Amino acid sequence: MAENANRKNILSPSILAADFAVLGEQITEVAKAGAEYLHIDVMDGVFVPSISFGMPIVESIRKITNIIFDVHLMIVGPERYVKQFAQLGADSITFHLEAAEDADELIDQIHSLGCKAGMSIKPQTPVEVVRKYLTKLDMLLVMTVEPGFGGQKYIPESTERIRLVRQMADELGTDLDIQVDGGITRENVKVVLDAGANVIVAGSAVFKGNITENVKNIMAQF
Ligand code: DX5
Ligand code: ZN
Repeated sequence: MAENANRKNILSPSILAADFAVLGEQITEVAKAGAEYLHIDVMDGVFVPSISFGMPIVESIRKITNIIFDVHLMIVGPERYVKQFAQLGADSITFHLEAAEDADELIDQIHSLGCKAGMSIKPQTPVEVVRKYLTKLDMLLVMTVEPGFGGQKYIPESTERIRLVRQMADELGTDLDIQVDGGITRENVKVVLDAGANVIVAGSAVFKGNITENVKNIMAQF
C-alpha cells in the first residue's frame, strides 16, 4: 500500500541509545535538528530481560524540553504506573498488549489522564488481535525487533505486519498513528513508511555518530 500523503511522518529518537552523562544536551540537539517526539523506553527486567530507567529521568528531562514525550512501557502491570508517568509529563503512553490486564480499560485510563494512548505488540503476537482496539487508540506500535535492547537488526517480516495493520485501520476508517521501533536506519526507513508506518523510532541510528546529521538524514526520507 502506498504511503498516505496527508499523514504526518514523525521522528521519535529513543534515548536508550543516548549518552546519559550528557542526556540533556543530546535531547536539546535532537529537538533542534527537527525531531518532534522523544521516545522514552521504560524496562522492568521482567517483561523484558533488561532494566533501563524510570520516573526520575522523566521528571528531570521534562524541565529542560517541550518536545513531546512518547513513553514506551515495557513493564508488567502497566496500569500500576500510567498515572505517575502522566503526572511527570508524558504526552503519550504506550503499553504492551501482552502485559496489560485489561487493555480497553487501560486505554480509557490513559485518555482520562490527558495523554494519547498507544498499544504495542511484540513480533510474535498475531496482528489480528489489535483490530478491536484500533478505533480507540491514538497509536499502534508494531515492534520491529524483540523488545528489550537497542541496536538489534530489523526483523524483515515486520514490513508485512505494518502493512496489515495499516490495511485494518483503513478498513475501519481510522487514521491512527502506526509506530515502528527497533533496527530502523536511514537505509530501511523508506520501507516502513511505504508499508504504512508514520511514527519512526530510532535509537542507535540517531545517537551513534553525529546526532544532528543523523536526524536530518533520516527526516530527509520523510
Ligand atoms: C527496544 C526499544 C527501542 C530501542 C530501539 O526494546 O523499545 O526503542 O531503543 O533502538 P534501536 O533503534 O537502536 O534499534
Ligand atoms: Zn521503544
